[in-house]
Amino acid sequence: MSFRLQPAPPARPNRCQLFGPGSNPKLFEKMAASAADVINIDLEDSVAPDDKAQARANTIEAIGAVDWGRKTLSVRINSLDSPYWYRDVVDLLEQASERLDLIMIPKVGTASDIYAVDALVTSVEAAMGRTKKIGFEVIIESAAGISHVEEIAAASPRLQAMSLGAADFAASMGMQTTGIGGTQEQYYMLHDGARHYSDPWHWAQAAIVAACRTHGVLPVDGPFGDFSDDEGFRAQARRSATLGMVGKWAIHPKQVALANEVFTPSEEAVAEAREILAAMEAAKKAGAGATTYKGRLVDIASIKQAEVIVKQAELIAG
Ligand code: COA
Ligand code: MG
Repeated sequence: MSFRLQPAPPARPNRCQLFGPGSNPKLFEKMAASAADVINIDLEDSVAPDDKAQARANTIEAIGAVDWGRKTLSVRINSLDSPYWYRDVVDLLEQASERLDLIMIPKVGTASDIYAVDALVTSVEAAMGRTKKIGFEVIIESAAGISHVEEIAAASPRLQAMSLGAADFAASMGMQTTGIGGTQEQYYMLHDGARHYSDPWHWAQAAIVAACRTHGVLPVDGPFGDFSDDEGFRAQARRSATLGMVGKWAIHPKQVALANEVFTPSEEAVAEAREILAAMEAAKKAGAGATTYKGRLVDIASIKQAEVIVKQAELIAG
């Protein structure tokens, strides 16, 4: 254990990030009325090349015009290998109102990618005299991104959240699937003739969580493409929550309630966590560092585990 304390991530709920294309402004009011904690207006891969300029203009107008309530408002810009991203940044920061909270940078591969966007953002912010500093979120969705995940998590004090983007990640890794997250039919072990499914996204998620927790960034699970499959979404989201992720994207409004359900600690979980804290408080008074709760060991580490759940519940309750 290092003498340095683990930095706390931003203290805001991030259970669900609802996406909608910037080229489809009819969706903006519906997105604002949803129960998602974060709204992501997309300028990248859900927008066709010919629609990029119009999507940018729609987005800039909606940032100021729509009542986004207390939601975190984010715009996904185009990737650094495209001819669009610099114009996304310049126009957003020159023209959009200060209601904009975050810029999401897709397909980051190295810390230098963040540095480049940070330099441009810092310059335009200064030129425009913007008082509110824009935060960043990034998507890890390439072999380079996952290889450099730790330096990316450390790249800028602006960085607030990091998501795994399953589709581009799978393509970049050469994975043999067209599925976006979830169970992969070919990824199983055989035992006594029965198939036992394993999770091909697990290691990337764990790497992202570790990098994020080291540097005070929120780890988020990205899209689940099959929006007809509620149970598949739940299963994926429950695995992500168990690994330490705080939320998941919704690419269709019906996924918002599912994400909120999974990433809000249940009343039972919160009650049990409080009981563990009470048991440890009693143990401390009795001069003990460990005690028994429901027939199992709890000790000082259990306090930290229980606090994760209680603090998350308190954050969500506001
Ligand atoms: N946000 C808010 N509302 C949405 C929505 C979204 N992302 N997607 C659809 N809706 C609305 C529809 O307008 C419709 O509203 P209505 O009942 O008032 O008519 C309702 O939800 C049901 O929509 P449905 O017909 O099931 O979906 P669709 O065919 O209109 O759209 C998608 C399906 C996938 C194209 C659309 O959900 C979408 O664009 N998702 C976001 C894609 C994206 O941003 N990708 C980038 C990140 S991976
Ligand atoms: Mg992508």
